[in-house]
Amino acid sequence: MQAIDALLARHSARALTEPAPDAGTLELIFAAAARAPDHGRLRPARFLVVRGAARERLGAVLADHLRRTHPQIGEESLQRERLKAFRAPLIVVVAAHCDSAVKIPVIEQTLSAGAAAHAMMLAAFALGFNAMWKTGEAAYDATVRQALGFEPTDAIVGFLYFGTESGERAPAVRSEWRDRVRELR
Ligand SMILES: Cc1cc2nc3c(=O)[nH]c(=O)nc-3n(C[C@H](O)[C@H](O)[C@H](O)COP(=O)(O)O)c2cc1C
Repeated sequence: MQAIDALLARHSARALTEPAPDAGTLELIFAAAARAPDHGRLRPARFLVVRGAARERLGAVLADHLRRTHPQIGEESLQRERLKAFRAPLIVVVAAHCDSAVKIPVIEQTLSAGAAAHAMMLAAFALGFNAMWKTGEAAYDATVRQALGFEPTDAIVGFLYFGTESGERAPAVRSEWRDRVRELR
């Protein structure tokens, strides 16, 4: 697939199933992430791969977060939260490990991790797989970060779900962009 075709046609999957990206594809996905723009070559992006039975651990972390932040929540909602970790065969949690002591602003380091996440989604799509980018309250919770082994000051920029697109394919509807573009004269 030509790069421009991947850029224009990429869409988030509505549902994902097996197979997950194979080992070679995953290597290329990470290699694409590593080519994200990175001011100062600080390499701020961090990646946690979650697959197979380890998804139960991620599901437990998500459910614990929900129980802690919504103490009245019912078992049905907790189970739904646990199952989020099973909506794809492979998950990569992408975080920004920012250094506030350097002169590159933290927002630029965070943006670099976001750019890495986008590159990963595009690479997966170009190689015949697909992905979803999710966050939610859990992404911004310190206990979740700690449970997943990130540093306290790391910022989770996304839970990226990878697999093979299944079910009804989402159309690649692109919003109009012309009304958001100005030219300085
Ligand atoms: C930082 C970030 C966080 C997101 N978090 C969520 C989320 O938690 N839940 C969700 O349904 N979509 C989320 N999205 C949006 C979807 O990933 C997706 O981009 C959007 O639904 C548009 O679909 P498309 O990618 O097919 O254009 C997020 C996107 C970004 C960039």
